[in-house]
Amino acid sequence: MLAERMSRLGTETAFEVLSKANKMQAEGREIIHLEIGEPDFDTPRNIIDAAINALNDGFTHYGPSAGMLETRKVFANFISEDRGVDIGPENIVVTPGAKPILFFSILALVDPGDEVIYPNPGFPIYESVINFVGGKPIPIPLREEKEFSFDLEEMKALVNEKTKMIILNSPHNPTGGSLTPEDMKGIAELAVEYDAWILSDEVYSKMVYDGKHVSIYDYPEAMDRTILLEGHSKTYAMTGWRLGYASMPEKLAEQIAKIQTNSNSCTASFIQRAGIEAITGPQDESLKMMAEFKERRDMFVEGLNELPGFKCLKPKGAFYVFPNITGTGKKSKELEEYLLDKAGVAGLSGTSFGSYGEDYLRFSYANSQKNLKRALELIKEVL
Ligand SMILES: Cc1ncc(COP(=O)(O)O)c(C=O)c1O
Repeated sequence: MLAERMSRLGTETAFEVLSKANKMQAEGREIIHLEIGEPDFDTPRNIIDAAINALNDGFTHYGPSAGMLETRKVFANFISEDRGVDIGPENIVVTPGAKPILFFSILALVDPGDEVIYPNPGFPIYESVINFVGGKPIPIPLREEKEFSFDLEEMKALVNEKTKMIILNSPHNPTGGSLTPEDMKGIAELAVEYDAWILSDEVYSKMVYDGKHVSIYDYPEAMDRTILLEGHSKTYAMTGWRLGYASMPEKLAEQIAKIQTNSNSCTASFIQRAGIEAITGPQDESLKMMAEFKERRDMFVEGLNELPGFKCLKPKGAFYVFPNITGTGKKSKELEEYLLDKAGVAGLSGTSFGSYGEDYLRFSYANSQKNLKRALELIKEVL
């Protein structure tokens, strides 16, 4: 018999659709994968070489739970310079991927009954982990008419004395939307007023195509109650390496490191060495990927808007589009299945990201322009 809490643990349906699409492909069907959120590029060569050198140099042992000091220094410098703040290695915890930070922070801070506000549609792991620890998930709707930002007045109505944490994600999965400076500032002020934590998931911070990334650290009044999440998966095409980190108040960093001692022990040392190279080495490969994502976005959004029944905003960041599909006359899940079965195009129903995702689909444009064009043709044929 499983523990009762397991009934409250959710999942990411992207992996289920991927496995169904892979099965169809193995049976000989042509499938275009637009369901999974990972760069289709290979990790840049200098990063791979740094990992190989580290293995040869003996970085094969346990290390400190919070991360090696040299790694934390490099990551702290990066956050300090990039966000214009002054943080040190004592503020950084390095984890195998960005995901453990989400899990550990909620585990460390949210008691049963505590309210946690999180974006809906949003990355499904937020709601899953809030439920898992017995917290009360309070969705804040992201609305198309606000370019998938939220309404600060709506947020104000949701925050109260029971709010323990506000989760932000900008640029945003699945909509590609971004929070405005006014919204960020408003949230920082609300967190201070109601003594709440902010968990700002900024793993897409380098994938901003119009304008500049707005970070929660732009509003330092909330820094002593903020966890800023960053990672290498998206920026450096390192999803399979598992490397993420966060900046937070030192006292909390000690506690998150303690959870790491109890779970992963530490992040692999040779992978941390590769992560240092990613940040301190040449950035041209990463910048090239970002420029390519922007081109794909422009082309794909234009194509989607030519499809009957589709209406798609141009997202400002990340590598997802979130077209409104009400004009097709189908519900989201139905259209997801229809497009996979009939056209061989794998996308995700907006409802995979919460109830406010109804009437939308999410496609990842982390695929070649050739495949994206082919996907548009295939969808057009079956609509
Ligand atoms: C918003 C968001 N946060 C966190 C993650 C997890 O990143 P990682 O693969 O580094 O654990 C993802 C991955 O899809 C994401 O979209």
